[in-house]
Amino acid sequence: MDALILSRLQFAITTVYHFLFVPVTLGLSIFVALLETWYVNSGSYEERIKLKKLVKFFGTIFLINFAMGVVTGIVQEFHFGMNWSEYARFMGDIFGAPLALEALTAFFIESTFIGVWIFGWDKLSEKCHCLCIWLVAFGSNLSAFWILVANSFMQHPVGYEIQDGRAVMTSLFDLITNRYVLGEYSHAFFAGMTTAGILVIVTCAWKISTDEVSREMFVRTLRRAVLYSFVGVMGVMGSGHMHAQYLATGNPMKLASFEALWETEDPAPFAVVADINQAAGRNDSEITIPYLFTFMVHNSFSGEVKGINDLQREAVEMYGPGNYIPDVRGMFWSFRIMVGTGMLLLGIVLIMGLLSFFFSETIQKPNCLRCGLKFLPIILPLPFIANSVGWYIMEAGRQPWIVVGLQKTAQAVSPNLSSGEVWLTLIGFTGIYLLLAVVAVFTAVSFIKRTKITEELE
Ligand code: HEM
Repeated sequence: MDALILSRLQFAITTVYHFLFVPVTLGLSIFVALLETWYVNSGSYEERIKLKKLVKFFGTIFLINFAMGVVTGIVQEFHFGMNWSEYARFMGDIFGAPLALEALTAFFIESTFIGVWIFGWDKLSEKCHCLCIWLVAFGSNLSAFWILVANSFMQHPVGYEIQDGRAVMTSLFDLITNRYVLGEYSHAFFAGMTTAGILVIVTCAWKISTDEVSREMFVRTLRRAVLYSFVGVMGVMGSGHMHAQYLATGNPMKLASFEALWETEDPAPFAVVADINQAAGRNDSEITIPYLFTFMVHNSFSGEVKGINDLQREAVEMYGPGNYIPDVRGMFWSFRIMVGTGMLLLGIVLIMGLLSFFFSETIQKPNCLRCGLKFLPIILPLPFIANSVGWYIMEAGRQPWIVVGLQKTAQAVSPNLSSGEVWLTLIGFTGIYLLLAVVAVFTAVSFIKRTKITEELE
């Protein structure tokens, strides 16, 4: 394998790994802030002790995850200098601004107030302490915003001009108000709520089933987590749909690829399953629902949707000879996995809502329902799978470009990089990351097992 493929592989592995922690940070910071607000406004002495323990319980899970997110996020920035120096040279003027703003406006808030929050228990007033975790949540979500502003430029460049072979920013305002940011950021925000909500749901379910002492408190938390996740799942579906509609003009090749629509059609059918033949530029066989793709894009049963083959011809006219079609099979199935997972999660959230609101007495008594809750953690990988395939669609969908229309991925790799060097770092990162994962999971699970939410003071 050459240095280009290996560098892409390394970036994909480290990004997907980093993004296991990011959505949990985005969503859990808000959930812990909501829990602490509940604690600050609560009544009786016993209730307050339990709620404080509950905030610390989920706060500790948040901190383990946060540490992993920061460590793995720092590595991401080194890639630009190590593996993608031509990209950094070409895009530095634009990419640098949102990354600097991320550090200055968001990461500083996040990291300062997380320190104050960790060490400020019993030193700050309750309200002031609660404000700290809200600021952490704000900082984390603002940080994601700046990163996605930079990423959106790569998907849909705006506010720039080319000077001496480099992209130079002409308007930061245009960069921030890039229409692509709205869809990408809102989707990532709700994906964070969903991921964290599901993490809290499975933790509560497991504690209800196995922890006699803390049971009642986790049933009450489960109800809140269900509401939180419900907003997350509905939001992720709504924002995903809205963003896909925008792609019809924002990046039609990406849309046509994840729907495997080869020819321009009006009305266009929706392919439920397809046997994709990328070399021949068609689906060898498919099961379709007539009109549906047009309806999803135009909210009407008539309207043209552009196909991959026409878009390829247009790209050749615009950019010269080349293959401008991404990996259609990977995109098509990734999209179906993501949407299918979203639907599955909605079903699980509704069932858990039914149990926690209408059968809360039953799930606290010894019976097979309560026993079954012990196995709910097996669904925990679902949101993480959806996030990973979501990123696959996002980044594989802009290939062969690294910055759509401006720089190809093959032109962006560092010129002096040898494949041996990338093998070394690739193996190094993968090995260290695996080790880190084992340590983090072990620390979190043993903490969850041993912590009890009681009304006794520590
Ligand atoms: C009906 C359900 C869904 C729809 C219609 C949908 C739609 C989309 C689309 C069109 C993209 C590609 C964006 C682009 O390349 O510009 C995307 C990316 C993504 N999706 Fe989904 N999605 C759905 C469910 C989910 C779920 C359940 C999750 C996770 C819990 C998720 C997480 C992501 C992530 C992390 C990305 C990449 C980053 C981003 O766009 O913010 N999606 N989704």
